[in-house]
Amino acid sequence: MRKIPVGILGATGMVGQRFVTLLKNHPWFEVVILAASPRSAGKTYQKAVGENWRIDAPMPAYSKKMKVYAVEKDEAFIAKKVRLVFCALDMEKDEIRAIEDKYAQKGIVVVSNNSANRWTTDVPMIIPEINPDHTDLIKIQRKRRGWKGLIVVKPNCSVQSYIPIIHALREFGPRQLEVTTLQAVSGAGKTFTSWPEMLDNAIPFISAEEEKTEKEPLKILGSLTNESIKTKNGLQISATCIRVAVTDGHMVSVAAKFKKKPTLAQIIRCLKQYKNPIAHLNLPSSPSPFIHYFAEEDRPQTNLDRDLGNGMAISCGRFREDPIFDWKFVSLSHNTIRGAAGGAILTAELLLAKKLI
Ligand SMILES: NC(=O)c1ccc[n+]([C@@H]2O[C@H](COP(=O)([O-])OP(=O)(O)OC[C@H]3O[C@@H](n4cnc5c(N)ncnc54)[C@H](OP(=O)(O)O)[C@@H]3O)[C@@H](O)[C@H]2O)c1
Repeated sequence: MRKIPVGILGATGMVGQRFVTLLKNHPWFEVVILAASPRSAGKTYQKAVGENWRIDAPMPAYSKKMKVYAVEKDEAFIAKKVRLVFCALDMEKDEIRAIEDKYAQKGIVVVSNNSANRWTTDVPMIIPEINPDHTDLIKIQRKRRGWKGLIVVKPNCSVQSYIPIIHALREFGPRQLEVTTLQAVSGAGKTFTSWPEMLDNAIPFISAEEEKTEKEPLKILGSLTNESIKTKNGLQISATCIRVAVTDGHMVSVAAKFKKKPTLAQIIRCLKQYKNPIAHLNLPSSPSPFIHYFAEEDRPQTNLDRDLGNGMAISCGRFREDPIFDWKFVSLSHNTIRGAAGGAILTAELLLAKKLI
């Protein structure tokens, strides 16, 4: 199969660097364009990134000498070279929406990490193992916008850490969730070197994160109508988001109330036998299993478990009965892999398998 030529918008940033790393030797996609701001444009990737390489693996050789293009000024050139762009820009939301629209208008598939289009009515927000059917909204998007391209988004990085567990238990009717996230510094695009104040520290505020953690699951778990996604009714989520002194990996503590309280045996059965709706597609980035259940009382641990399934699996454990809610548990995912670049790559693989690219 001839590989699909792809570009990375925001290639020099934390998430962009993760894309560059994960797409090395990808069987279906070939990175032909790296793009960023005018500050980086015209330089080689290695020069543009300079001392600011923030990934725990070395910069892939293929990327080092590639020229960095300007996302906006070189848009026409980039659109001729690629069929798909992964968007990892950090800009104002209306600027990002304008850029994503322009690329889609030129026939390009846009798979975005950004929040700018997450609530756009005809844009699906996908976790491939949960709502792959929402990609059907793309037909409506294409018809309405009259474009051959498309825009699809992935949710906020905190959401992947706990919603897969709640979805696995959906037959018991989850009603109320009290969620406390413990989020890594890489989630802010930073390291301990660029953010030394985070060493030996926890900060109980992440701008706009609690609203995203509470609201985005309602679209992901919602149902597809013939013009949009109807958000899920009857599920309330209350979130507190805390930045902690961890490099990568968002852990979440959840207390959950159900319409019908499951037993521990039923919970374990649902988690271990989760029916992954995309398993039959054998997508290259799809982890197996999707969910890891730990019976040990001190797991999951960030350092031990964030890389399960090449950073694409979700892990959980510590299920205990709760005196106020029904059950409480802890879960974990890798924020820049499953929660960002890896999740976007898996979404692109799903689009290709569904012949939407
Ligand atoms: N970090 C995570 O775990 C995570 C998870 C999920 C989603 N996200 C989202 O992903 C996006 C990127 O996050 P990040 O942590 O990678 O940010 P980052 O490290 O600050 O990188 C931002 C990127 O945007 C580019 N950029 C900034 N201003 C630009 C402009 N005017 N024109 C063109 N390019 C511009 C930068 O290029 P230069 O280097 O040239 O300035 C850089 O490549 C954010 O929206 C973030 O919310 C992050």
